Amino acid sequence: MIVGVPKEIKNKENRVSMVVAGVRALNNAGHQVLVQAGAGLGAGITDQEYQAAGATIIEGAKDIFAKADMIVKVKEPLPEEYELLREGQILYTYLHLAADERLTKALLDRKIIGIAYETIQPADRSLPLLAPMSAVAGRMATQIGATYLQKDHGGKGMLLGGVTGVARANVTILGGGVVGVNAAKMAVGLGAKVTILDVNVDRLEYLNDIFGNAIHTLYSNNEQIEKSVIESDLVISAILVPGAKAPKLVTRQMVSRMAPGGVIIDVAVDQGGAVETCRPTSHEHPTYTVDQIIHYAVPNMPGAVPRTSTYALTNVTLRYGLMIANLGWKEAVSRDPALYKGVNIANGKLTYKAVAEDLGLPYEALKI
Ligand SMILES: NC(=O)c1ccc[n+]([C@@H]2O[C@H](COP(=O)([O-])OP(=O)(O)OC[C@H]3O[C@@H](n4cnc5c(N)ncnc54)[C@H](O)[C@@H]3O)[C@@H](O)[C@H]2O)c1
Repeated sequence: MIVGVPKEIKNKENRVSMVVAGVRALNNAGHQVLVQAGAGLGAGITDQEYQAAGATIIEGAKDIFAKADMIVKVKEPLPEEYELLREGQILYTYLHLAADERLTKALLDRKIIGIAYETIQPADRSLPLLAPMSAVAGRMATQIGATYLQKDHGGKGMLLGGVTGVARANVTILGGGVVGVNAAKMAVGLGAKVTILDVNVDRLEYLNDIFGNAIHTLYSNNEQIEKSVIESDLVISAILVPGAKAPKLVTRQMVSRMAPGGVIIDVAVDQGGAVETCRPTSHEHPTYTVDQIIHYAVPNMPGAVPRTSTYALTNVTLRYGLMIANLGWKEAVSRDPALYKGVNIANGKLTYKAVAEDLGLPYEALKI
């Protein structure tokens, strides 16, 4: 199979969909990998490194799309890429179709095979191709929160871990899933006083088992959230209600009762945010202030650390990418039920029910 790796063109997107190890693995399996010139630079990978691993470097995206049987990307295609896609071509990437009707219709019209990272789901209902980005965002949340708590960044001028004889900062983490656990690891490591709230009691049990007395766990309800938030120096919102917009758990009134110079990081902003006063921001202008509380709500946090997130992403995408290349998409999908769930579009039909329902478009189960 010919596998194409175009350069990402979304604003400030520096990740790339394949690293040198991926090129080597595909090459060893007898496939040809075409990499667009400069595609890896944002993640610190040069054309020469790709070439040494067996890739062919191609100038411009046009030729890659024209020649490849499978396009491997990070982000969904943008309008200027729609027309480059060809009937029957496999597109393996994050698609997030429910949020983009125009993209969905374009992919249906082009009759491509759209395999979405975010819906590949094994029987345990985990989302293995989403989790690494949550891990990155969770770790960043604490790091960024610690920075904004500094006076020179507008915060109250406090070190997360304090020092001997001086109080540590209070960190509240709403949601103890992948983001929450990773935020907690960093906050505990820096010596903060960490409280995690979740509605899933089994999850709280698990958090207690792994962190022991290094954290406090609380069942998440309005009263506990209020108490914890107003006493916090840093609040990290990390909740997810699958398939739904995030509920506004932190109200404006709670925010106004936090001490001035406190920081809120709403990681869940990509699902609408769990903080009433949060609105999406960007890497260029990441923060704003409400009631003297710094708000950070960037929906694509991992984009700021492309070297880490490129490797975290490709560690989990390569396995399925190789399977598709080795077996062809139909055989791969029929052998692996997790990959079957990844197919959102095939032969001009929308084959992922939740996306079809969200967009009010016809759904047709994938028949292999
Ligand atoms: N901003 C970014 O760049 C970025 C990057 C990655 C993930 N995210 C977002 O971060 C959020 C968390 O992702 P995740 O992978 O950790 O999800 P997850 O499913 O692993 O964890 C979510 C947790 O929230 C808990 N929860 C649900 N309702 C709650 C409530 N009312 N109170 C407290 N806890 C509640 C769940 O029980 C679960 O443990 C998602 O919205 C995701 O889209 C954002």
